[in-house]
Amino acid sequence: MIILLTGGTGYIGSHTAIELIKLGHDVEIMDNLFNSKIEVLDKIEKIAGEKPKFHKIDLLDKDGMDKMFAEGKYDLVIHFAGLKAVGESVEKPLKYYENNVGGTINLLECTKKYDVKKIVFSSSATVYGDQGVAELTEEMQTGVGITNPYGETKHMIEEILKDVAEADPEFEITILRYFNPVGSHPSGLIGEDPNGIPNNLMPIIMKVSTGEIEKLRIFGDDYDTVDGTGVRDYIHVVDLAKGHVAAIKKMKQGVSIYNLGTGRGASVLEMVAAFEKASGKKLPYEVVGRRAGDLAEIYANPSKAERELGWKAELTIDDAMNDTINYLKHLKNE
Ligand code: NAD
Ligand code: UFG
Repeated sequence: MIILLTGGTGYIGSHTAIELIKLGHDVEIMDNLFNSKIEVLDKIEKIAGEKPKFHKIDLLDKDGMDKMFAEGKYDLVIHFAGLKAVGESVEKPLKYYENNVGGTINLLECTKKYDVKKIVFSSSATVYGDQGVAELTEEMQTGVGITNPYGETKHMIEEILKDVAEADPEFEITILRYFNPVGSHPSGLIGEDPNGIPNNLMPIIMKVSTGEIEKLRIFGDDYDTVDGTGVRDYIHVVDLAKGHVAAIKKMKQGVSIYNLGTGRGASVLEMVAAFEKASGKKLPYEVVGRRAGDLAEIYANPSKAERELGWKAELTIDDAMNDTINYLKHLKNE
């Protein structure tokens, strides 16, 4: 298939590009490089043996998008592109609604016009809001109690996709709700390398280990969890990438929704311990107050993806930590 990855030079998109190329798909990437680097394309080529055709285009650039679709003969689009910094979305909500929701509408107009009816969308566990239970299943009601505009954009896009599929039954749409992606490619060549100051636990741990950030601030140790710190479902990014491969093999008319997670939670302190074990170094941290909007504990029920897609996560947190340390070594030598 000829597959367009929006946001494909980013963290999850680049790992997915590798898995798709390895299977013989023709991969093209469009990205405005706001949060990724052009060098990723050479690294994809080094790992997978082929360099994806690249379009430096913004989702909001209607003419550029139209031209790309007019020339491309895409069978399927995987839509990764979006802004994802939760804190920034609270400060600059309009930027998030415009980029994520407005950008997706532009994309969907192109897919409709150029008859590309297969779409996979990168959604997030954030759409579940606070369910009052830790284990999350796809049929739970979403959109209630989302605490930030970023999460709202993911929920709105899911609703838009459902309406698009309702209006045109030929659309085959798969919504993948990611839990917390961590780790890097085992080659050490690609991984999470965000522009600017990171917000998420793993990139912060990486920057603490390199000394760019003095210490990790753990947001609360008084939750009702195994050790009082927040618990999340951390999934190795290579497993997540393979989830996309499994999903595109089973596309069907209408909208299908899957959790991509491991089904197991790990606490912040467990993540710190795993990083220390892999690196052989202590990771400086201090416990500070809770972060607004954080939940105590969530993890995926991933059984629908296993049942219907034949996919399940196979790598461990230790694998993710070892691959991250390998990636950090490569970054240092670049
Ligand atoms: P990322 O920032 O590494 O990749 C996203 C890419 O989209 C970047 O390369 C960025 O430059 C590009 N982009 C952003 N706005 C664009 C625009 N207007 N036009 C063109 N390109 C644009 O993020 P990621 O971690 O790879 O996430 C991929 C997707 O998965 C995002 O939609 C994100 O919201 C979603 N997601 C991520 C996580 C996570 O923790 N990483 C969790 C759940 C969902
Ligand atoms: N944490 C800290 N200190 C930090 C950063 C995070 O203690 O400096 C803790 C958080 O309190 C939480 C855990 O580490 O308990 C994970 O936090 P992240 O910010 O890495 O991830 P979240 O679960 O809050 O959210 C992330 C993405 C969302 C996405 C969600 C999916 O930011 O966009 O995963 O589950 F929706």
